[in-house]
Amino acid sequence: MIQKQPAVLFSEKVIQERVRELGRRISADYSDVEELVLVGVLRGCYIFLADLSRCLTIPRRIDFIAISSYEHKTTPGALRLIMDTRTDITGKHILIIDDIVDTGQTMHYLLEMLGARKPASLRSCVFLQKPDRLEKEVHIDYLGFDIPDLWVVGYGLDYADRYRALPYIGFVESEDF
Ligand code: IMP
Ligand code: MG
Repeated sequence: MIQKQPAVLFSEKVIQERVRELGRRISADYSDVEELVLVGVLRGCYIFLADLSRCLTIPRRIDFIAISSYEHKTTPGALRLIMDTRTDITGKHILIIDDIVDTGQTMHYLLEMLGARKPASLRSCVFLQKPDRLEKEVHIDYLGFDIPDLWVVGYGLDYADRYRALPYIGFVESEDF
């Protein structure tokens, strides 16, 4: 069977322009800060974080965190920390980097958990958000794009661990599953 390529939602060019714009804003907002710690949420963040971190003009450090994904959830909404940051974030300026906010459960959990460790500041930067799916009110400080309720893939995002390395953001429909 020939694998159908997912339809394009955002082209490589549109993505790169948006990432550069976010990079400019973040660099300006943190220009007075000694160091910014980017905490990427694995695995979906890896390409966005790689691109964004290279657009920044301020001193930054990269760290990662991993949260259980849908397939490992026993109860809907229940999340589990699989891997913690190496950095002790207390007193540091933290920017959480994630690929997408869907129900908002993951970002809500991360903001609570990392906020409890008393960082100097804590903000979120997310490439995509599905406003129609939001269940938890979460504040996103830096957002790439709002998108409709579609299953999107590429640019780090997967469907059953496929399509992550697509250079654009596409969407899959049930016949592609
Ligand atoms: P939330 O906790 O419901 O906001 O979901 C967050 C996580 O679900 C994201 O970080 C993704 O890993 C995954 N996810 C949600 N929607 C999509 C999608 O359309 N494509 C790929 N992954 C998604
Ligand atoms: Mg994710």
